[in-house]
Amino acid sequence: MPRADAPPTLDGRTWVITGAGSGMGRALALRMAARGCPVALADWHEEQLEETAAQCAGPVLHRRLDVRDRQGVMAFAADVAQWAPAPIGAVVNNAGVTVAQSVAGASPEDDEWVVDVNFGGVVHGTRAFLPILLDQGSGTIANTSSVFGLIGFPNQSAYCASKHAVRGFTEALRHELRGTGVRATTIHPGGVKTNIVANARYHVDAGGSTDHARAVKEFDRIAQTSPEKAAKTIHEGIQAGKPRIRVGADAVFFDLLVRLAPNRYFDLLERVEALGRRDGHSMRKVRLSRQQGR
Ligand SMILES: NC(=O)c1ccc[n+]([C@@H]2O[C@H](COP(=O)([O-])OP(=O)(O)OC[C@H]3O[C@@H](n4cnc5c(N)ncnc54)[C@H](O)[C@@H]3O)[C@@H](O)[C@H]2O)c1
Repeated sequence: MPRADAPPTLDGRTWVITGAGSGMGRALALRMAARGCPVALADWHEEQLEETAAQCAGPVLHRRLDVRDRQGVMAFAADVAQWAPAPIGAVVNNAGVTVAQSVAGASPEDDEWVVDVNFGGVVHGTRAFLPILLDQGSGTIANTSSVFGLIGFPNQSAYCASKHAVRGFTEALRHELRGTGVRATTIHPGGVKTNIVANARYHVDAGGSTDHARAVKEFDRIAQTSPEKAAKTIHEGIQAGKPRIRVGADAVFFDLLVRLAPNRYFDLLERVEALGRRDGHSMRKVRLSRQQGR
């Protein structure tokens, strides 16, 4: 049901998407291009980005870009402003990475990598495109957080920190933008079957495992949502003018859980997971490894 204050249709408007070489960014690019939207795409992985661009129907601009590079992001925004055949409907700051490591045993460089991409990239993308949207008096800045921007999860401290930061930044921006015609939206995906775990730097996970290949398989098993379904939810959420977009039933569940049990949600998650698995091992391993201080 569209909100009474929903923006005008975004079909035919230009969509800007970072991290468009894979996963949700690619699926969103293809979805919007198929609906007649010019798309401006960025990713640091050139080959994958070109694959996405080649599949897009209609006008496409693509740039190899590391979203940590503030000047590079500013230059991308200037190129998009010159090129865009239609006003910008949405800027989706979606590029993201993760690392699996404990706080005590962390490689600081890997933590910095995650925070710089996930939060720094969002800040640069927002600042670069915001003046264009303010000039237009319309458009949405949609920044990708996570369910890990709602809860904390062991051995994902940098990722959780970066995604909580995205949420706080975007909510503050949303209030700043009142009355401007421009919106800010936070996206909170649950598990989506993408390359996020395959692309992770993997030291040790919450269960004490260092087996990256096993983690990729396990993630594929438990992630409930396809990138295409996620793209549909994101598109419809932005179109409806939602301030917060939860992607997948698991995201709705996490959101409710943390509000109902702000101090005990992790204990409850352990129980739910044990019920859902015949052996109930993995969350028990999380608890054991926490007790062992890993
Ligand atoms: N998949 C999930 O379950 C899930 C859940 C919650 C949040 N998210 C978030 O969704 C977003 C999209 O991730 P995805 O799941 O589609 O993963 P993905 O790995 O399939 O796609 C991420 C894309 O971002 C690009 N990227 C990474 N670092 C970059 C950089 N410095 N500059 C430019 N591009 C860069 C990668 O090359 C890749 O194409 C991320 O912000 C991620 O944290 C994913």
